[in-house]
Amino acid sequence: MPILYEEVSEDNISCLKDLVNELMAYQKSKAAIHPEFFDNMNFETRMIPSVNNAKYNYIVVAKDDDEIVGYVYSNISSKEMYSNDFATFFDLDSVYNADVGCLSQFYIKEGYRSLGIGSVLFEKSKDWLCSFPSIEDLFIFVSNGNDEALKFYQGKSFKISHQILDGFITVLRNT
Ligand SMILES: CC(C)(COP(=O)(O)OP(=O)(O)OC[C@H]1O[C@@H](n2cnc3c(N)ncnc32)[C@H](O)[C@@H]1OP(=O)(O)O)[C@@H](O)C(=O)NCCC(=O)NCCS
Repeated sequence: MPILYEEVSEDNISCLKDLVNELMAYQKSKAAIHPEFFDNMNFETRMIPSVNNAKYNYIVVAKDDDEIVGYVYSNISSKEMYSNDFATFFDLDSVYNADVGCLSQFYIKEGYRSLGIGSVLFEKSKDWLCSFPSIEDLFIFVSNGNDEALKFYQGKSFKISHQILDGFITVLRNT
């Protein structure tokens, strides 16, 4: 199964709509704490505003022939974006620089997991995030119940920092 990896431009993110919505449904199915928070989360409410509000975006898909079987979405944003009406995701004073990097969304379709595709996409994102000299702080937010994802990121040297929203989200950092 030759998997191809392709960057997707911001103008073409509609091709990810189904997978973004699958990711939200997957996370809801795993969550024991506030699963209802996912009810308002979908491509239109999560992906589009995030892409529009970020300073830089990086989206890579994994393709099996013409079918997109996975994607990763990372961005660079002002740290102030992470304190809003929904939550304060981390202590802003714990970040020296103005901007932070985030591996924001990550999804491999069932049947394509544990084949190394996620590791390839992760490395591409990490390389992109680390290509910004002014970015020292990287974040990943994992919703509760998704222990496989937590283990995956910990295996890639990210560390659990803290939880927010009664444990709805576990915050991981690179330092
Ligand atoms: C989490 C996720 C993105 C990881 O992607 P993946 O393609 O399954 O990851 P990989 O195959 O690269 O790695 C998974 C495991 O398989 C192992 N692996 C890597 N290459 C492998 C290969 N060629 N063959 C077999 N196993 C392999 C890895 O060591 C890893 O083990 P670990 O988790 O114990 O470290 C993916 O499983 C997924 O989309 N899950 C559902 C959605 C989700 O949870 N998203 C994250 C939201 S925060």
